[in-house]
Amino acid sequence: MKEVFERLFGKRETRLFFAPGRINLIGEHTDYNGGHVFPATITYGTYALAAKREDRQVNLYSMNFEEKGVISFSLDELEFDQAHDWANYPKGMIRYLQSDDRKMDTGFDVVYYGNIPNGAGLSSSASIEIVTGVMLESLFGWELDRIEMVKIGQKVENEFMGVNSGIMDQFAIGMGKKGAGILLDCNTLEFDYAQLELEEEQVIIMNTNKRRELSESKYNERRESCDHAVEQLQKELSIQTLGELTEEEFEAYKHLIECDTVRKRAKHAVYENRRTLQALEALKEGYLEQFGELMNASHVSLREDYEVTGKELDTLVEAAWQQEGVIGARMTGAGFGGCAIAIVKADYVDDFLQQVGELYEEKIGYEATFYVADIGDGARELQKDEVIV
Ligand code: GLA
Repeated sequence: MKEVFERLFGKRETRLFFAPGRINLIGEHTDYNGGHVFPATITYGTYALAAKREDRQVNLYSMNFEEKGVISFSLDELEFDQAHDWANYPKGMIRYLQSDDRKMDTGFDVVYYGNIPNGAGLSSSASIEIVTGVMLESLFGWELDRIEMVKIGQKVENEFMGVNSGIMDQFAIGMGKKGAGILLDCNTLEFDYAQLELEEEQVIIMNTNKRRELSESKYNERRESCDHAVEQLQKELSIQTLGELTEEEFEAYKHLIECDTVRKRAKHAVYENRRTLQALEALKEGYLEQFGELMNASHVSLREDYEVTGKELDTLVEAAWQQEGVIGARMTGAGFGGCAIAIVKADYVDDFLQQVGELYEEKIGYEATFYVADIGDGARELQKDEVIV
């Protein structure tokens, strides 16, 4: 990265920042429903090597999108610009982070590099947002509350990029901890770390390599269905979100929801929220098998009721379920393609990769890609010798 920086922007004193990607262990499509999620940060992520300038120009370059070249704009022109492509994520952060007590007196030059598989549902976009946040905070010496930064990341996604996503991704990436998952109550933003004591198991990420077509519009559509369900339940219940309901309450009032599809979507949100809390309990008690069963049930609910899995994710997860040594497997992230995860006993991992790989290719016609997920720390400044490229 250093050579690229020097070639583009000259020899300067630089600083290096990193923000990871995330997996979600359980609690899918619950964040915008005021429910719980249980994500963890991985060691793949986005690096940013940066130095301040003397003028008000911002120059951004990504080693992942070399063909786009250096994207430049002034600190005084921070509008969304289609032509700026990937750089709209950092641009949105630059725009929304500025406030009366957070000023940028100069522009800056940045080289980004990410090793999160792109568009795979591991939050490469939240990772670039948060690495930009951490970088600006340090370059300009602000005292910025991390949760506030997380909320600004979500605002960029919602208002600048037009994706109506919840807070899970930015929260996980901003707050992640090595070896731990984060149980987050998305209603109150109360959170708790839970150690993932996986001594004899590994978390495997399985990428369908399917492009997530129309995923944003389908995502927004699911969200609307849930809002619709809340409106109908409000005829008799004083709730603001589906996350406030127990399964029993839902069963007693679900007749208020007229449309079958909307009722199924709401059912998923309510039951998934409960499953997430049960999963955390199981983990704390050391009942990993039970945790795995809840992961499997989560996938079934996402397949049958929320309908966000699709053939590729189902093929991967169902192939995983058939293998020996598998504790649990499910899709992770928004769905509609992207990645699934499996917890697999370490001794069985080699066979698992081979068998699941073969079954997938046979049925889908192209390969899946597998990664071992190490759970690493959240966004931070790195030492120079931690550069990986
Ligand atoms: C995407 C969104 C998150 C969350 C998940 C589904 O990753 O960015 O806010 O809604 O989908 O759980």
